[in-house]
Amino acid sequence: MAAIKTDASSRRMRVGGLPSIVPGWALILMIACWLIVTAPPVQAQIAGSPHDFSSQGWSGGEICKPCHTPHHADTAVAAAPLWNHEVTTATYTLYSSPTMDVNVEQPGEISKLCLSCHDGTVAMDSFGGSTGSMFMTGPAVVGEGLDLSDDHPVGIYWNHQTVSGCGTCHYTHGDPYSYRVRFYERRVECASCHDPHNNGAEESGMLRVSMAGSELCLECHTDK
Ligand code: HEC
Ligand code: HEC
Ligand code: HEC
Ligand code: HEC
Ligand code: HEC
Repeated sequence: MAAIKTDASSRRMRVGGLPSIVPGWALILMIACWLIVTAPPVQAQIAGSPHDFSSQGWSGGEICKPCHTPHHADTAVAAAPLWNHEVTTATYTLYSSPTMDVNVEQPGEISKLCLSCHDGTVAMDSFGGSTGSMFMTGPAVVGEGLDLSDDHPVGIYWNHQTVSGCGTCHYTHGDPYSYRVRFYERRVECASCHDPHNNGAEESGMLRVSMAGSELCLECHTDK
């Protein structure tokens, strides 16, 4: 008897609640559509970016070639996308801190692609099998002296450290893993935060997410 009563009352509640539920869902849908239309992810565009070397003699007038090639790519580097540039073989001094949840390991292969110009040990024009002579200098050298101890760690396993809000990375059931930042076999690497093909029209530093209000940082450090 009690079960039937519960059933009937819940049905009544559903019917009575329907008119207010429908506009609620419609509203969420409208907000979602509005967000998609008005807030697209940072659009990557390499032409004219700090990575467009086509105007420099050593690039052969091409944009992609210093980094990629359609044929005869370097397959020795795991996970490298059709790679054409000589890759660094350096070992780095790593970041360490007592409050870290996971160990910082040597940069993953994807980060080594970046460090192949940005540690200053491999010439920028060492690509397509030739050995170049143009080495990076100045503030763009991130792994200067092979020291990454003063940089945000890379080569760190994403183990849901310190996170609370899940929605920034797990959007819907249809697309459960949808990140504005990028993970590489679940690790944070240079290209998690940077898009090497971004001309920075909206943002300097070729970032995947804006630094306004430290949005990029809060994408992963959701509890801060
Ligand atoms: C300065 C080096 C550099 C240049 C120049 C460059 N890329 Fe890349 N590219 C990378 C690196 C590093 C990655 C791997 C990191 C990542 O996930 O974005 C990559 C990844 C890619 C990927 C696979 C991942 C993705 O985002 O789709 C494609 C496709 C790609 N590049 C195409 C191009 C094309 C086309 C050009 C020329 C118009 C170009 N790249 C120029 C460094 C470069
Ligand atoms: C072929 C060499 C090469 C590779 C590979 C390369 N870069 Fe660069 N990168 C450069 C040069 C050259 C500059 C311009 C340096 C300067 O202005 O002094 C630059 C500039 C940058 C800048 C500064 C952008 C700005 O707005 O000033 C960032 C960030 C950057 N690179 C990140 C990366 C990351 C991340 C990767 C790997 C995903 C990568 N780079 C791979 C050569 C390279
Ligand atoms: C900064 C992005 C990010 C945030 C925030 C995040 N996740 Fe994840 N989550 C990931 C990544 C990356 C993976 C691994 C996906 C893969 O293996 O391809 C993952 C995987 C998972 C998985 C699959 C099982 C596993 O561990 O591999 C579950 C469950 C999960 N997340 C739950 C959560 C919950 C619950 C929260 C909120 C407390 C959360 N995630 C917040 C990035 C995130
Ligand atoms: C956790 C996110 C994150 C990671 C990981 C990261 N960067 Fe950055 N990087 C930034 C931000 C944010 C800036 C500042 C951009 C700005 O304000 O112009 C920056 C700036 C830079 C610059 C410009 C020069 C400078 O010092 O301001 C270069 C070059 C660069 N990063 C390369 C790299 C390389 C190479 C790696 C991997 C070893 C890497 N980044 C890893 C977030 C990151
Ligand atoms: C792609 C994800 C991601 C992004 C984006 C990111 N971080 Fe991190 N960060 C991590 C992970 C994972 C760790 C390792 C945390 C741990 O194991 O305790 C970490 C470590 C740190 C640490 C060291 C914590 C310690 O215990 O020593 C600081 C500080 C930090 N991040 C600040 C930042 C700032 C500032 C930004 C924005 C410029 C940023 N992070 C962007 C993922 C990210």
